[in-house]
Amino acid sequence: MKKIIITIDGPAASGKEKIAKYIAKKWKLKHLDSGILYRQLALIILKKKIKYDNLFELRKIIKSKPKLSLRKTKKIRSQEVSALTSSIAVYKFIREYINRKQRQIVKINSNQRGFVIDGRDIGSVVFKKADLKLFVYVSEKNRAKRRYKQLIDSGEKSIYQKILKEIKLRDRQDKNRKHSPLVIPKGSHLIENNGSFNDTKKQINYLIRSILDGLSK
Ligand code: DC
Repeated sequence: MKKIIITIDGPAASGKEKIAKYIAKKWKLKHLDSGILYRQLALIILKKKIKYDNLFELRKIIKSKPKLSLRKTKKIRSQEVSALTSSIAVYKFIREYINRKQRQIVKINSNQRGFVIDGRDIGSVVFKKADLKLFVYVSEKNRAKRRYKQLIDSGEKSIYQKILKEIKLRDRQDKNRKHSPLVIPKGSHLIENNGSFNDTKKQINYLIRSILDGLSK
């Protein structure tokens, strides 16, 4: 059977990861979180003490074809790595390297039934011919409220207004980036993730069932 590719794009804190994990489990697909690849590359750059604007050294690193782990470690979620990741994700040569990695991962794992891949440019650039493209929509205020609750629940101090400001800033950076800005990919389905997760699941499963029906005909 043909390998199924489902892409999930959307802004920061819109619940892409939760949706991707849910789809992977329910439909027995492999989950690829493209943000991890960007973060692992940023960690390598950080360890080598290279600044985000030292294009000469950054290009040298890419030329050396660094291996990028898919492990989601605590280190790659740190504030330092997050900030550096945003800064290096604007460069075309870096994006092209990570895009190639994603396509290789999908190609190499030919034994998989398919992949669900989440990020900011997956349906618009990396896998333009995906079987199903989803774009997750959640209002800025709801995203900030959810992130705030997550932090408070995990015992961290947090200020709602500060989080809302950060989310607005990341949206602006993602949407205004020169290369591969965050856009609603052509042919994508809008997934409304403002309400309960059950509502979100219904929207998604309806779409997946219809593409699977189409593929088996
Ligand atoms: O989804 P995340 O927070 O792990 O993403 C980390 C950073 O990488 C974030 O600044 C956006 C960027 N990113 C990107 O530009 N394109 C992707 N496909 C995935 C992530």
